[in-house]
Amino acid sequence: MNRIVVANWKMNPQSQKEAEVLFKESYSLAKNIKNTKIILCPPFPFLFVSKKFKNKNISLGSQNVSTKTEGSYTGEVSPKMLKDMGVSYTIVGHGESRRLGETNEIINQKILNLLKYKLTPILCVGESVRDANGSFLLLVEEQIKKSLIGVSGAQMKNIIVAYEPIWAIGKNATREATKEEFMEMKIFIKKVVSDIYTPKIAHSIIIIYGGSVNPLNTRSFIQDGGADGLLVGRDSINPKKFGAVLSALN
Ligand code: 13P
Repeated sequence: MNRIVVANWKMNPQSQKEAEVLFKESYSLAKNIKNTKIILCPPFPFLFVSKKFKNKNISLGSQNVSTKTEGSYTGEVSPKMLKDMGVSYTIVGHGESRRLGETNEIINQKILNLLKYKLTPILCVGESVRDANGSFLLLVEEQIKKSLIGVSGAQMKNIIVAYEPIWAIGKNATREATKEEFMEMKIFIKKVVSDIYTPKIAHSIIIIYGGSVNPLNTRSFIQDGGADGLLVGRDSINPKKFGAVLSALN
């Protein structure tokens, strides 16, 4: 089975020169990796840099998209522009974007806009705190339901769901999720998708894990936690560590 590894470079690096090096290293790491689709998501200004490189295991992703299609929207980037740059995937609903004001309604509009142009949304969901009563599950359910309004069952098959608990993301992470926590959430996400669509669609969707993924925990999320892939932040901009994450999958 093909696994997915999404490299979210976030707001890094700071120059085209460094982006070129990062692309070059990532492409070279991917050479010997089998049964894995790697999706590199650089910041917008560096998307074009990837045109210099080719590898059928690597696809290009973006970290955002507009809710609008074209026209007078200062600062916005349309799905068509992304497609023209060779982008096939787009991250939406990331915890860091939600913190800056991206609501479930905005995420929903972005998803519909992406699907219209046959781009694959990577929908991030996840709670900022886990409470003993399990209210965080209701929050994740709401994130999924509101983000998918107007998305057909056929379109749902083209959406990747990433469970990224906010408490596990970035330098200030309290800890990574356990494989059991991921497994439970995977079942819960499938249940929510099954309620909206059908058990068959829920069975077929791709669910990946993100939050402090590193070479040491990669294998456990995939093999024991049943993740279909990983969303990697910090370790995706460190070629040595990213290489080790990819090798751990083989
Ligand atoms: P880290 O891997 O740095 O915790 O970031 C995770 C993430 O936010 C990926 O989208």
